[in-house]
Amino acid sequence: MGTKSLCLFIASALIAYYIYAPIPENLEDRWKLMLMSSVYKTVGHLAEFAEWLGLMHYMEVLMLITVTEHVPPTSDENVTVTDTEFSNVPVRLYLPRKQLSGLKRAILYFHGGGWCVGEAGMKPYDLLSRWTSNQLNAVVVSVNYRLAPKYHFPVQFEDVYAVTKFFLQSSVLSQYGVDPNRICVAGDSAGGNLAAAVAQQLLDDPEVKTKLKVQALLYPALQTLDLNLPSYQENENKLILPKSLMVRFWSEYFTTDSSLREAMASNRHVPAEASHLFQFVNWSNLLPEELKKDHVYTSPVYGSSNLGKKYPGFLDPRAAPLLAEDAKLHSLPLTYVLTCEHDVLRDDGIMYVSRLREAGVKVTHNHAEDAFHGALAFISSPANLAVGHRLLNHYINWLNDNL
Ligand SMILES: *[C@@H]1O[C@H](CO)[C@@H](O)[C@H](O)[C@H]1NC(C)=O
Ligand SMILES: *[C@@H]1O[C@H](CO)[C@@H](O)[C@H](O)[C@H]1NC(C)=O
Repeated sequence: MGTKSLCLFIASALIAYYIYAPIPENLEDRWKLMLMSSVYKTVGHLAEFAEWLGLMHYMEVLMLITVTEHVPPTSDENVTVTDTEFSNVPVRLYLPRKQLSGLKRAILYFHGGGWCVGEAGMKPYDLLSRWTSNQLNAVVVSVNYRLAPKYHFPVQFEDVYAVTKFFLQSSVLSQYGVDPNRICVAGDSAGGNLAAAVAQQLLDDPEVKTKLKVQALLYPALQTLDLNLPSYQENENKLILPKSLMVRFWSEYFTTDSSLREAMASNRHVPAEASHLFQFVNWSNLLPEELKKDHVYTSPVYGSSNLGKKYPGFLDPRAAPLLAEDAKLHSLPLTYVLTCEHDVLRDDGIMYVSRLREAGVKVTHNHAEDAFHGALAFISSPANLAVGHRLLNHYINWLNDNL
């Protein structure tokens, strides 16, 4: 066998390894999914390698996907798009051009990316905001909050909160022709986490007079306490967001110190002093029977109290909105929650739906059986998936009817 054929053989084996990913039976567009998941896997391996060599931080390599997908702010016939700043935080602003009578609706949107990557100007986020603005004739403020590993909690939260507070001032609302009774916070993944946290924080803020009409949480991350929920176990190695990456995102949100990540990976990071918080994430009570399947609930295993003292953020409801008390949840606005079956974060969303409903909040829960984490980001070529468009349309139609 010549060197050439040996190389060809090794290359094919490597490609086959990358392309092969267990794609759940009920997902459409299987070839596209395999290719996409191999791209993500490759970038993940490169990131590990670059970090191991000491060349770059893991997240700096992942950030390459964000950079590749960046599009400049471009206005079209329907929407004027500009990059600007609100309260010193960069935002991408979408203003509908149609001159309809009356005040407009508004959406504050927080992008996903595990608090570490992503930006409002990534093509899928830009499309999502543009289409929302056009179809709802709404002002959309898509926030470029600061990211880890350079900035840790609570910076991400404080940035989106500062933009929200700035925008909710009556002078600003009237400048953009926005109806103060028709405002929403929304976000996906880590952005859904930030949206849920902002909606809770606004309830306690005497300086803000404007109330949100709705919150929309798209496959949100909502808790750090139990990283071994049934959804984490079932989707540990599924596409786009394997458990190891979610653990990495969570720990990087608080610190680059790998001891928190290691403790989180074995689900032994919560100190015994925080044991009372486990009732808020007890899947044995909060998941419907059909999702418990044959999983067996086991009591939490506690970790050292040092981690809790050093990084109290992971026990803070501003980082983990599921840890809020019922009395607080009770006052939240009408809520939309999207969860996907093939997603480590599935049970976070479902448990929040249970807790909100028990607290008396009206919730529309869209559970997509044939979808995976991040599906909404696949709405344009080369990764244009029917499921992404279907979920996006459901969300936009819901906003149109309820905001
Ligand atoms: C502008 O809006 C119309 C009606 O919603 C739509 O058909 C058209 O595609 C939009 N244009 C762009 C550039 O998105
Ligand atoms: C979780 O719920 C189960 C069933 O109700 C209960 O037996 C268990 O003690 C609860 N655990 C915690 C930590 O709240």
